[in-house]
Amino acid sequence: MNITVAGVGMTKFGELWAASPRWLASEAVNIAMKDSGMEKKSIQGIFVANMLSGMLGMQGHLGALFAEQLGLSGIPAYTVEGACASGGLAVHAGVMSILSGQYDTVLVLGVEKMTDHKPELVSSALMGAGSNEERLAGATFPGLYAMLARSHIEKYKTTETQLAAVAVKNHFHASLNSLAQFTHPITIEQVMRSSCVADPLKLLDCSPVTDGAAAIILSKRQRKTSEVHIIASQIATDTLGLAGRKSLTELAATKKASMQAFKQAGIGQKNIDCAEVHDCFTIAEILAIEDIGFGQKGEVGARMEKGEYTLGSAKHVIVNSSGGLKGCGHPIGATGVKQIVEITHQLRGLCGKRQVKNARVGLAHNVGGSGATAVVHILKT
Ligand code: COA
Repeated sequence: MNITVAGVGMTKFGELWAASPRWLASEAVNIAMKDSGMEKKSIQGIFVANMLSGMLGMQGHLGALFAEQLGLSGIPAYTVEGACASGGLAVHAGVMSILSGQYDTVLVLGVEKMTDHKPELVSSALMGAGSNEERLAGATFPGLYAMLARSHIEKYKTTETQLAAVAVKNHFHASLNSLAQFTHPITIEQVMRSSCVADPLKLLDCSPVTDGAAAIILSKRQRKTSEVHIIASQIATDTLGLAGRKSLTELAATKKASMQAFKQAGIGQKNIDCAEVHDCFTIAEILAIEDIGFGQKGEVGARMEKGEYTLGSAKHVIVNSSGGLKGCGHPIGATGVKQIVEITHQLRGLCGKRQVKNARVGLAHNVGGSGATAVVHILKT
């Protein structure tokens, strides 16, 4: 498989009160189009990733809406929803549409506007990604991931300080990314002192509520040898609710999707230079690193504390150079698309102070809900 990432773009992520979803989409797409050097008329299909617009903004039918907004009315447009994995799923759908022979060039747009709405409404809407039983029991996503954290702590003696080290790393990386929501570094002490959200997870263990958009142009045309390509695109699913899982110390969908992606790409974990993984909560990054196979089960927390996945480390793959969901922000539908934007920038060598040295191969990992969907892409120059 060899799909060219012809252009990428994203808006600033954050609390963007003055920006509408339409403005965010136009901004990200204009940057991606300019980056591709293509004209809009080259786009033959649009895949829009979004989770919450129908529930919070009472606006559905986003495929046609953004086709019109972008001056592309008339061409096929689809909306893709898979909770926090909506962006990754939309990228996968775009890839499949090209591989099927239906289109040569497509636009994938991820967009989400969350901060205009009351926090309790946002939390309830996000729980649409959980099981009915979890919703009826009053669970929230911080609560569900807290259960995963507690299980990991009990089984592997992972410590809260090790979880805090994930947040410290990702805020440090975000401090080097002007488009990130949080551009201030934090310390372990600040994480440990931050207010409890769902024990053992504290405020600074959580990704925030965010507005933002990201866009990529995918094409079967190859123009330059230095271009970035998607060489694997895989999805796996699991039960919606935690109660149906065999284990609470791993995400089976992540294991399956990443194993299949490595097989499809014909490479292994050791070949990956940089990875954007789904760190909606600090425990989620520990699980992702273990389940993808970038570290042994139960050992990643200690390695994290030693700085092994931080920019500058020669020991391991560098994880979440953008700041991840924790530092860069998590505008649900945009996140999976933004991960491809970051990996593309890394492989092109355009990340300035947060550039991963000699980055040639990158991986993007996007999760929906508490692990019911996992999407893995591998990219290469
Ligand atoms: N990380 C760092 N700082 C955060 C933050 C986060 N996750 N969330 C909020 N803040 C900061 C705010 O910027 C604000 O700072 P300020 O006072 O300097 O402006 C302060 O903390 C209070 O913010 P507020 O918006 O009142 O926080 P909140 O209590 O309403 O929400 C959370 C905090 C953690 C509950 C909320 O961010 C949340 O629900 N996160 C998880 C989202 C989620 O579940 N996503 C899906 C994942 S599967």
